[in-house]
Amino acid sequence: MKIGIGADHAGFNRKTEIIEYLTLKGHEVVDYGTTSVDRVDYPDYAKIVGEAVVNKEVEAGILICGTGIGMSIAANKVEGIRAALVYDELTARLAKEHNHANIIAFGGRTQSALESKVIVDAYLNAHKEPRHSNRVEKIANMEKGE
Ligand code: RB5
Repeated sequence: MKIGIGADHAGFNRKTEIIEYLTLKGHEVVDYGTTSVDRVDYPDYAKIVGEAVVNKEVEAGILICGTGIGMSIAANKVEGIRAALVYDELTARLAKEHNHANIIAFGGRTQSALESKVIVDAYLNAHKEPRHSNRVEKIANMEKGE
């Protein structure tokens, strides 16, 4: 699977670990930055990854900041993005199954490396459940002002 990933300074180290983890598993990971632990603004990376997902450069996105909160808020401003703040295996799985999330966000300061790998696996291995499609369509309609 082709996955886009982005982080701010608070998520940079975790991003590096997740890229290595996913690459070893055979995924193609596109790194949209940041490139160091120097302070940056998380909305910049949420926007880049959100647009990459919407433009189908990648099939899904992963965003990491200190808590995942700022990244999820910002990514959801990109039309067509359903970014879910997830914090464990269950929320990661349900984000895909029920909410058809095309991005997950979590925290480099709030989730351990192991927890982050469990989250990523749960999200990537899950499938969208069609019975929730009408609710997802209602979210899309809200974006159109309907
Ligand atoms: C950066 O200090 C921190 O505010 C940011 O990474 C994130 O947690 C925001 O939601």
